[in-house]
Amino acid sequence: MGIFIPLSSLLVSLVSALWIMLPAYVPNSVAAYFGGGRPVDGGRTYRDGLRIFGDGKTWRGLFAGIGAGILVGFLQIAIRDAGGITLLPELTVPVVILLSTGALLGDLAKSFIKRRLGKERGAQWIIADQYDFVAGAFILLLIFQYEWVVTIVTPLILFWIIVITPLLHRLVNIIGYLAGVKDVPW
Ligand code: CTP
Ligand code: MG
Repeated sequence: MGIFIPLSSLLVSLVSALWIMLPAYVPNSVAAYFGGGRPVDGGRTYRDGLRIFGDGKTWRGLFAGIGAGILVGFLQIAIRDAGGITLLPELTVPVVILLSTGALLGDLAKSFIKRRLGKERGAQWIIADQYDFVAGAFILLLIFQYEWVVTIVTPLILFWIIVITPLLHRLVNIIGYLAGVKDVPW
């Protein structure tokens, strides 16, 4: 006896995972594209003498990224409503804001830990680099929109999020590297 999952629900949950995570995926790329200028830590160092976040975390990247993620989420809400596409999971204004903000706060927190480990800006840190924004988004969602998480995010959707996130991350970073937006392909 095995676990039988119809192909249709596998596909619907895959699309649902992408739909839910889009406001969390967008901020990273937008930050990489628009980032620059004054770093969030203002160039300051932590008590270990190393940078708090590093030059890779800037105010412009943070605000442009969060803003873009929220904008995309609002568009998704409008599209789902206008088209009556109830097959897609419902996003709400607070959920979209938490997804986008959580993504870049997760990225920021990761850079803080990365610096404490003595890793240079842009150094590769597998697993953390791929899942930082998912972790950040879900931590905020679980704190402020717990009901939404438990009713909308099914185990199958969660499975897809875990599977597709590193793949998409890799793909987008290779594209960003080839386009000259990112210095390294990770
Ligand atoms: N970026 C930014 N502000 C942010 C996040 C990202 O300006 N809050 C921009 C920076 O130009 C950064 C690029 O996006 O170099 C890629 O982001 P990321 O890979 O997260 O940063 P890294 O440079 O790799 O730095 P770290 O080692 O701290 O992850
Ligand atoms: Mg990086």
